[in-house]
Amino acid sequence: MAGKSPPGRREASRNAHYRSLKAARDDASDCRDCPLWKPATQTVFGEGPARARIMLVGEQPGDQEDLAGRPFIGPAGKLLDRALGEAGIDRRIVYVTNAVKHFKFELRGKRRLHKKPADAEIAACLQWLQSELELVAPALVVSMGASASRALFGRATPIEKNRGRLMDFAPYGQILVTVHPSFLLRVPGPDRAREYDRFVADLRIAARAMK
Ligand code: URA
Repeated sequence: MAGKSPPGRREASRNAHYRSLKAARDDASDCRDCPLWKPATQTVFGEGPARARIMLVGEQPGDQEDLAGRPFIGPAGKLLDRALGEAGIDRRIVYVTNAVKHFKFELRGKRRLHKKPADAEIAACLQWLQSELELVAPALVVSMGASASRALFGRATPIEKNRGRLMDFAPYGQILVTVHPSFLLRVPGPDRAREYDRFVADLRIAARAMK
């Protein structure tokens, strides 16, 4: 389990420009810059090719991601994989990460239920997302949901109003806002298929932009 070593080692490289994703990931593994590290199992850093042209940004790891130490491997990740496939994007060529690198949850009996990260937690974690952006330097960032957009734009950004169009995201090329795949899992019955299709349509815009 990572993230339980004494604090302090990282102080010297705070705000550093890392030479590699591995160096950034190593430092993030003992981050204690907000309280979320304590109940979490480990830091879940992003993964994917170091020179990926597309970076997908979600909110925070969920229960399964927290245990496995990898982003988007649980139910939302499976839905994301399916939608990426339908949009013609191979997940293996994409860098996938989250705005917040620790799982925030509340215990309900034995179940760990997702809790939305606070703005202060998103702000504390921004250093890691910034390192990933700097190192991967993607041509296109796909911002999935409100927390990712809060981190990437530095302010609350309405999803419906901004989704599905390419916007300038200097110095990293462009950004595309869309919903978070977990939202799709919560949409009730008949509307779910329509919302899923809209999500795939947004991802197709990303796919076309990368052709
Ligand atoms: N939701 C996210 O935002 N990220 C994950 O890694 C899993 C679920």
